[in-house]
Amino acid sequence: MKDQLYIGVDLGTSAVKLLLVNGEGTILNSVSKEYALAFPNPGWCEQNAEDWWKACVSGIHELLKDADASQVKGIGCGGQMHGLVVLDKEDKVIRPVILWNDGRTTDEVSFLNDEIGTDKISGYTANIAFAGFTAPKLLWMKKHEPEFFERIAKIMLPKDYINYLLTGVHASDYSDASGLLLLDVEHRTWSREMLSICGIREEQLPHLYESYEVIGTVLPEAAEELGIPSDVKVIAGAGDNAAAAVGTGCVGNGDCNISLGTSGTIFISNDEFCVDSHNALHSFAHANGKYHLMGVALSAASCNKWFCDEILKTKDYPAEQKDITDDRLGRNSVFFLPYLMGERSPINDVDARGTFTGLSMDTTRADMVQAVLEGVTFAIRDSFEVAKALGVKIEKSKLCGGGGKSPLWRKIVANVLNIPIEIPSAEEGPGYGGAMLAMVGCGAFESVQACADALVSTAKVIEPDPQIAARYDEQYHKFQKIYPAMKQLFKELR
Ligand code: XUL
Repeated sequence: MKDQLYIGVDLGTSAVKLLLVNGEGTILNSVSKEYALAFPNPGWCEQNAEDWWKACVSGIHELLKDADASQVKGIGCGGQMHGLVVLDKEDKVIRPVILWNDGRTTDEVSFLNDEIGTDKISGYTANIAFAGFTAPKLLWMKKHEPEFFERIAKIMLPKDYINYLLTGVHASDYSDASGLLLLDVEHRTWSREMLSICGIREEQLPHLYESYEVIGTVLPEAAEELGIPSDVKVIAGAGDNAAAAVGTGCVGNGDCNISLGTSGTIFISNDEFCVDSHNALHSFAHANGKYHLMGVALSAASCNKWFCDEILKTKDYPAEQKDITDDRLGRNSVFFLPYLMGERSPINDVDARGTFTGLSMDTTRADMVQAVLEGVTFAIRDSFEVAKALGVKIEKSKLCGGGGKSPLWRKIVANVLNIPIEIPSAEEGPGYGGAMLAMVGCGAFESVQACADALVSTAKVIEPDPQIAARYDEQYHKFQKIYPAMKQLFKELR
């Protein structure tokens, strides 16, 4: 077990993060390779699929530099969800990938939700349309780029494109495919109705697998390019949130995981299929063969990155947070709406934008940094409240993602949600989950649950403080009033 090696891939929005993990679950090496994002119009967001592959190739070389590459047994990828990758009949990428946080599809979303109707869309797929989902992007292409739309031979999701270059197989998994809005999530089959609404044929879609199933072995040319054996197994992998949930051990019924990455998500694992009657939370398949509910804040750690990098012109995030002591928590008079790319859950508003409210002459730099971290956490509490209203009992949560490394932000999350926050031993959610799924696919564990039981433990628990939590409760109720007051103005500012 110790000698066997697995590669976990987290195909993220700003970078690919690669992990080399041995059969005992120890992380031996990690490498991150960044790639560019393009914002061709306000609210649009695109990336080049070829850049992902280049980053994976150079990253895997670096990852394996001091390792015995002949021992690599499997590769598993957790990928950014919903991105529309379209290939022509020669398997060439037709246009840049339209990403999960792209807001161009207002008209298509309103066609699906208002003209076809949310009852029907939810009946077909278990979800309603959100701007970042893939089906509205297909409708957008059909209208705005008909010549590209006509050329589509294959529709894929980001990690599926990497898996295709590795194996030559057009595959996807149920967790990621849930976010296409073309899947009947409950029955794990394509929705004929949605295919017909979008003008898509089934042969254009990838073959579906469970996340831990093997889709093939590495093609000889890819094996040579990457410097790995050609019998390495590639598993279907998962959407990054489902992969992160596996990586933090959030696979039991009712388990919760919060991720503070580019997006902020709250993920609740369910053994049985269930759907939020207002569809404010997504109802998707999980990577363990079951289901989950998920709320998504489109901008999370990206808000802190934006504020520090672009506005304060610093990369030293801990230095910005060091003056924010416990006595200041729950007492900030500055509030931040974190809707820098519009917002998904629960408000579903592409026009929403970021705001600072409550500034005065005595506002400090630290107040604003704190407001950013708090605003993102309040946005996650919005989805947490929806889950609670559905009767879901969330007594504690795991936390992962870049933002979850900040001791201050951990404390804010525990107190804003008023639940204990568990920091898993391996915080590299999607990459570690990808490696774990590869171990299951290669037969090292009999199930995702068995793998999680063996490899995932809790390194630290952050308990809420009753006084801080009570202060944050009041702050949250003030925060809740800001968006409704701004909503109409956001439309006018569009
Ligand atoms: C989930 C979502 C984001 C992306 C980020 O629905 O859109 O969390 O998966 O990579």
